[in-house]
Amino acid sequence: MRRLKYVRFGPTGLTVSQFCLGAWHLPGSGVMDDSGVERVDEEAFGRVVRKAYDLGINFIDGANRYHGRMSTADINHVGNSEKLLGAILKDYERESWVVATKVRGQMAAWPNGQGLSRKHIMWQIQESLKRLDLEYVDLYQIHWEDNATPNLETLRALNNLVDRGLVHYLGVSNHSAANVVEFMETAKRLNIEGFASMQEPYNILEREVEGTTLPVAKKYGMAVMAYVPLAQGVLSGKYLAGVEKGSRASYITQVAGQYLNKETASAVGSLLELANEKGITLPQLALAWMLHKQGELGLTIVPILGITKASHLEDNVGALDVKLSGDEMRRLQEVAAGAALGPQSY
Ligand SMILES: NC(=O)c1ccc[n+]([C@@H]2O[C@H](COP(=O)([O-])OP(=O)(O)OC[C@H]3O[C@@H](n4cnc5c(N)ncnc54)[C@H](OP(=O)(O)O)[C@@H]3O)[C@@H](O)[C@H]2O)c1
Repeated sequence: MRRLKYVRFGPTGLTVSQFCLGAWHLPGSGVMDDSGVERVDEEAFGRVVRKAYDLGINFIDGANRYHGRMSTADINHVGNSEKLLGAILKDYERESWVVATKVRGQMAAWPNGQGLSRKHIMWQIQESLKRLDLEYVDLYQIHWEDNATPNLETLRALNNLVDRGLVHYLGVSNHSAANVVEFMETAKRLNIEGFASMQEPYNILEREVEGTTLPVAKKYGMAVMAYVPLAQGVLSGKYLAGVEKGSRASYITQVAGQYLNKETASAVGSLLELANEKGITLPQLALAWMLHKQGELGLTIVPILGITKASHLEDNVGALDVKLSGDEMRRLQEVAAGAALGPQSY
């Protein structure tokens, strides 16, 4: 059953599975809470985590803000995903998991209820640990930029968490290349912990980071955690037949604005034909493309899989058996370049 291999996490001694499990969107229950927001199907989430674990996934990525069924959670719904995950992790040996979470987004309406200040970080690590019911998190990531806080303040606060054993490794997400360089050079100058990883949106339709932040990850030997590796499900081909009930695009309307248009459908349709020719599924083709990109880019890339059904996970892990030639890689990229994406929906 155990199928995954393990890779070194950037410049660290930490070992993580080739795929990470994401905790942003979780299986829906179809039942609404008092505010009309769908509740997560906790049992189904437990089954997904069990399947991931049995396949050999040891790495899970969440964020303090994640709810599980809301993309931009309001302050009454933030933290739900961490709470649900904490309950599920009780069934496992803590040390068998590498648990990642994030800080930055709005967690309360008051001043300092968001950001990367020392005050906010010191508060939110305690809150995340309570929700997750853990004594430490393995990877603590800054979710996106906070231009109002000096980088040195953020870096020193994060290093304090490492020194206190509340956090083992640090990561960055959604920061400009120049800003990551500034953080990393400051850490080097002060001989303190910099970032072991960079978490960025990356898939065969969305390759902007190849020319912006990925060269910075390479320069500092950081691991890349690729989020939206299947373009939120678009790279499964499911939306070619319309928006099915319960799917991501059925409850997050911005997904359609980003991905559901004629050009993107045509590119995805052609990718699907190429997958069919190879006798594999489209998610397998898209994920295999990313795994093959590692060699070309000289980076370790860990795709973070969003999973609402355990069967999707089995499908996606099949990417590990797919071989792509240089010609096939070029052909896929040519076809994918025909997509035309709207404003980001994450
Ligand atoms: N740092 C950041 O700012 C940031 C932002 C976004 C995400 N993330 C991280 O990245 C993770 C992954 O993002 P994502 O969920 O958008 O990833 P994704 O893999 O691009 O999309 C996941 C969705 O694709 C569909 N899917 C997956 N496998 C499938 C298959 N084999 N067949 C059919 N459909 C399939 C499912 O859609 P349905 O729901 O329709 O079943 C699933 O929810 C998140 O959980 C989070 O940890 C980070």
